[in-house]
Amino acid sequence: MSHELILILDFGSQYTQLIARRIRELKVYCEIVPFYYGLEQILERRPKGIIFSGGPNSVYEGDAPKVEESFYFSVKVPILGICYGMQLLARDLGGEVAPSDKREYGHAEIKVLDSSSRIFSGLPQELRVWMSHGDHVVKLPNGFQATSTSGEIVTSIENEKKKIYGVQFHPEVSHTPLGQEILRNFLFDICGCKGDWTTGSFVEEEIEKIRQMIAEDESVVCALSGGVDSTVAAVLVHKAVGDRQVCIFVNNGLLRYKEFETTLRFYEEKLHLNVVGVDASEEFYEALKGVEDPERKRKIIGHKFIEIFEREARKIKNARWLVQGTLYPDVIESVSLRGASVTIKTHHNVGGLPEKMNLKLIEPFRELFKDEVRRIGKELGIPEEILKRHPFPGPGLAVRILGEVTPEKVKLLQKVDKIFIEELKKSGLYDSVWQAFAVLLPIQSVGVMGDFRTYDRVVALRAVSSIDGMTADWAKLPHDFLQKVSSRIISEVKGVNRVVYDISSKPPSTIEWE
Ligand code: XMP
Repeated sequence: MSHELILILDFGSQYTQLIARRIRELKVYCEIVPFYYGLEQILERRPKGIIFSGGPNSVYEGDAPKVEESFYFSVKVPILGICYGMQLLARDLGGEVAPSDKREYGHAEIKVLDSSSRIFSGLPQELRVWMSHGDHVVKLPNGFQATSTSGEIVTSIENEKKKIYGVQFHPEVSHTPLGQEILRNFLFDICGCKGDWTTGSFVEEEIEKIRQMIAEDESVVCALSGGVDSTVAAVLVHKAVGDRQVCIFVNNGLLRYKEFETTLRFYEEKLHLNVVGVDASEEFYEALKGVEDPERKRKIIGHKFIEIFEREARKIKNARWLVQGTLYPDVIESVSLRGASVTIKTHHNVGGLPEKMNLKLIEPFRELFKDEVRRIGKELGIPEEILKRHPFPGPGLAVRILGEVTPEKVKLLQKVDKIFIEELKKSGLYDSVWQAFAVLLPIQSVGVMGDFRTYDRVVALRAVSSIDGMTADWAKLPHDFLQKVSSRIISEVKGVNRVVYDISSKPPSTIEWE
């Protein structure tokens, strides 16, 4: 690897991924590794600096996660401990940590004690920060000084000579407004990073790597879904191996309005991919007949997809590789206290396929976040229209049609969804929401149209704002906008006489209804 590296040792904090994102935003490459990652491996990888994440434990608990004893003597690069990370290094180096009377959670004001501290360089003397901890450092290790406090509590420590720093608060969260500056000071001033992590350099390196990996006579298979990750992955691999990559795009009959036709054309004509379009709608409808249970629907769709994909992939000569758009958050999950730190989720769509067909995996985005993949897509010339698309679930409209799925219901829902999305785009609201869609409810309601009574279907509109889909707020779309969408739906889509708007957030609701 030719670029700078920061390693983040994960002690199980819910914010560990955020630390990585913040660092990448500063154009420094970093990776999250579990706290028990071997010391030798760490040294081999020659990081420019190491960060200890926070974590849910107390350092004085018997089985609290820790680093090897020789860690601090062997690692010669700067260390920054955050929250639990600070308590750990303070305790390990001879200090003392004790429980606070009560858990401190929320905003706090800290006072910087030493304006020459490099970690606070260029920052005001009083800072608003975000705290989330139950313990604090009560005795500093030898050679350390406190650089800030909040009331009686020491909120940061450092040993400038050894380049070991600790902050009790969380600089990585947006509730610490100047947190990014603290990380910048650590990376650039203290670790000496230059910020050489750019999408351009990633693309070049990755294309070369893929070229080296794949032999001249081997072919690559890629499952396209119409979404951002698989599209960007396919375009990147195409740059490396050209038409030796065969993409398979399956229509399961559960996509959005005319999505299969338009996306397929787009793949062929605009992105010049070698793509096989397979319209398997009827097979999926047949398999879904009479099925109402959401989880059974998911399973049936997943199995059917694999069956069809495998059938098509077997037609490709010398297929040895499978491209997947797996992202970093899928690869690394926060350290569980039971120690199973790195969980690799198999892509729900092609789960089990690589083993069955004896395919090796190419996952160019295993270490990337979604926003980085979008930037790479831009770098590769993929239009915004694809890159800014809302996420769409693998089982498609099947989990948005409550109850049994039929082709008629799919058609109806596609029309409703199209109007909603069209209006969102027209009014400039599309990019402001994470996801927006319509749901067909399994009920009918009474209405009146002209002089006639109607007894028709009800659809729900759902729009949410979210950072990663893990939590979400219902989107506060303007009333006049909702009114316009509702009247268009009721007048243009025969069979619908009522539109409702979903005002539930996640948790406790989920984004999809099924
Ligand atoms: P939930 O409904 O769990 O959704 O709040 C969170 C995000 O995941 C998407 N989703 C799925 N994606 N297969 C997928 O590929 C699925 O079975 C599935 N279920 C939900 C959902 O659209 C949202 O972005």
